[in-house]
Amino acid sequence: MPLKESRTIWHDGALVPWEQATVHVLSHALHYGSSVFEGIRVYKTPDGPMGLRLTDHIKRMYDSAKVYRLIIPYPLETLVAACKLVIRDNDLTEGAYIRPIAFRGYGEMGVAGNPEDPAVCSVAAWEWGSYLGEDGLETGVDVCISSWQRVAPNTVPALAKAGGNYLSSILVTLEARRLGFVEGIALNTSGFVSEGAGENLFLVRDGKIYTPPVAASILAGLTRNTVVELALALGLEVVEQQIPRELLYIADEIFLSGTAAEITPVRSVDRIEVGSGKRGPVTERLQTEFFGLFDGSTRDRWGWLEPMLDATDVRADCPVAV
Ligand SMILES: Cc1ncc(COP(=O)(O)O)c(C=O)c1O
Repeated sequence: MPLKESRTIWHDGALVPWEQATVHVLSHALHYGSSVFEGIRVYKTPDGPMGLRLTDHIKRMYDSAKVYRLIIPYPLETLVAACKLVIRDNDLTEGAYIRPIAFRGYGEMGVAGNPEDPAVCSVAAWEWGSYLGEDGLETGVDVCISSWQRVAPNTVPALAKAGGNYLSSILVTLEARRLGFVEGIALNTSGFVSEGAGENLFLVRDGKIYTPPVAASILAGLTRNTVVELALALGLEVVEQQIPRELLYIADEIFLSGTAAEITPVRSVDRIEVGSGKRGPVTERLQTEFFGLFDGSTRDRWGWLEPMLDATDVRADCPVAV
């Protein structure tokens, strides 16, 4: 699906026209994957557009940068403000996806780059529908176990959301799509279930919810955490444990969670039906709670929704160049 262009992008401290937010072909990140980024969804709510866990996402970006000794030359508040600014400046009040990124830019071509050089930072936002398809949210998607495993511990850090990690995700997704599946699930190098190419995984069996632990080479998804909190608030039991592959074949329900994928049911794994082959009741209940955050039917007792059009004068931090 082609990207739906917006008007402006925040690029190192200023808004620039969309087509001018470009980088040099010798930028370090382009060659070595040395970028860290985030994906944040903005939802339309009765109280105006809200960023779901915006600050938590930006915090994770700083954590990812720390692992790679990448200096983000702005305080966290500036990047949060820049996210609000691109929503406001592009009139994305009906909902959007925000993509902040920090990367090693042009200057040194040695593999390590110069750790003292500050990262280049940008924030873009655009309209983006459901990642695994609108229908998928209701009917569920068909997935396969990938022949590609997730990165092993102490190789490429899975907890950092870094550009280079997505080479693994690309292989998983390409293989899945080539074989006619919507998404691929990767095992870790111990042979246990890790996660989808861009989503965390949950399964339901005998009324309990299971998800792989952080040590299973997953990205610690914020949607994963949101799902866990919503499930606990409903009085459901959530168990973090290593999941053998065959448990997926005999699960009552499976669903994927992620900012892009939201909560997407899985109806088959390797062409084996999950439960009755339809969205299960626990998945549906959690979807109702999750989407209820945006129409007000679920009370946001966690402070996850952050107003995108609040009075903060974001322009003071972010001079406008257009
Ligand atoms: C590999 C991977 N796992 C899990 C997730 C889900 O993370 P989150 O819920 O924070 O979007 C993502 C998406 O960012 C991802 O790329």
